[in-house]
Amino acid sequence: MLAIRNIGELVIVPPGPVPGRAMRKVDRTRSAAVLIDGDRIMWFGPEDGLNAPSDCATIDAHGGCVLPGLIDCHTHTVFAGTREGELVERIEGRSYSEIAQAGGGIRVTVEAVRRASLDELVDTTLPRLARMLRNGVTTVEVKSGYGLTVADELKMLEAVHRLQSLQPIELVATYLAAHTTPKEFDGRSDAYLDTMFDDKVLARLRDEGLAEFCDAFCETTAFSVEQARRVLTTAKRFGLRPKVHADQITQMGASTLAGEVGAISADHLEKINDTGIASMRRAGSVAVLLPGCSWFLGVEQAPARRLIEADLPVAVATDYNPGSSMVESLPLVMSIACTQMRLTPIEAVVAATANAAAAVNRLDRLGGIRVGMQADLVALDVPTVERWLYEPGRNCVRTVLKAGRAVVDRDS
Ligand code: NIG
Ligand code: FE
Repeated sequence: MLAIRNIGELVIVPPGPVPGRAMRKVDRTRSAAVLIDGDRIMWFGPEDGLNAPSDCATIDAHGGCVLPGLIDCHTHTVFAGTREGELVERIEGRSYSEIAQAGGGIRVTVEAVRRASLDELVDTTLPRLARMLRNGVTTVEVKSGYGLTVADELKMLEAVHRLQSLQPIELVATYLAAHTTPKEFDGRSDAYLDTMFDDKVLARLRDEGLAEFCDAFCETTAFSVEQARRVLTTAKRFGLRPKVHADQITQMGASTLAGEVGAISADHLEKINDTGIASMRRAGSVAVLLPGCSWFLGVEQAPARRLIEADLPVAVATDYNPGSSMVESLPLVMSIACTQMRLTPIEAVVAATANAAAAVNRLDRLGGIRVGMQADLVALDVPTVERWLYEPGRNCVRTVLKAGRAVVDRDS
């Protein structure tokens, strides 16, 4: 058994999904302790109520804040190459879509990923995950979408599978073949989708356990709502639950589609409208906001307060990718959610834990503090979440526990 003692503030995040207006009403216990048995939380409460066996191991939180391990529920962490030239192009006045239309953007990373071997993809991704872990992130969703041939998409998903066995972060794989049309299919996007959403391909993903979710990028530079509907409903027949890159640059009805196909989440939502909000509410979809992306691109943020007031469960993720969000720090993105979207720090914490767990279908086990839930915990060197997110750019994480095991310990 393991006890965490001397906790300044324990943030008792409930299991997700937490509807918008409940996100700010999370209990906190001062002078708290947590008792862990194996990989599970066995007890938590005020420290004077702790009843630990005499041979119990101890972690001293030094008066710091303790919260559930962070969940980055939308990333493109497996990629090859970099695209800093696009940063300069945007400074000179070209938009993300203009760069994509001129042959830049996603297709540049596709070339690099196609050239990379499986081993190279694994080797370049490992240090990224190690840095994410040191920032308190214990679960990461990772999308394919830079291969865009069956073999290269499988290579990306194989890389995720391999990475799972090499490091402690729990990985969640999403099939994003509908990211953009590769250049060899220029003008023939339906034919491209036919090859990538063939029954045999989808059966293989299911049978080999290579992906849990299917995502589609609905945008003028990517796929139409009808194309996304077709591939998401096809993939659903093979057990891949839908997610949608929705309403990022253009309002095309993508968040409405998300609700209609029963998407577990709709992500981005910078241009969401009332019809989309109503559709997502009916379906119980999580609204995944990506404030690091709009910040990185220098464009308007999604209307987070409107979504919270509409009582949608709101999550926050990095969208870590080499084009629109070369930002791997979820705590930094949570701070951006506070300063640019007006989330309170406690709302940002719920968004990156319980509601992120809901967006990756892990709400029974991850993202909350309850007896019986998995002991994925982060201890900070500051006493409160307000003090933490007030200080972006400094890593305040002291200790990280994954399934009851200390995987980061700055003091040792
Ligand atoms: O979520 N929007 C589509 N996909 C990524 C960007 C990928 C890229 O530019 O490489 C995103 O922002
Ligand atoms: Fe994305």
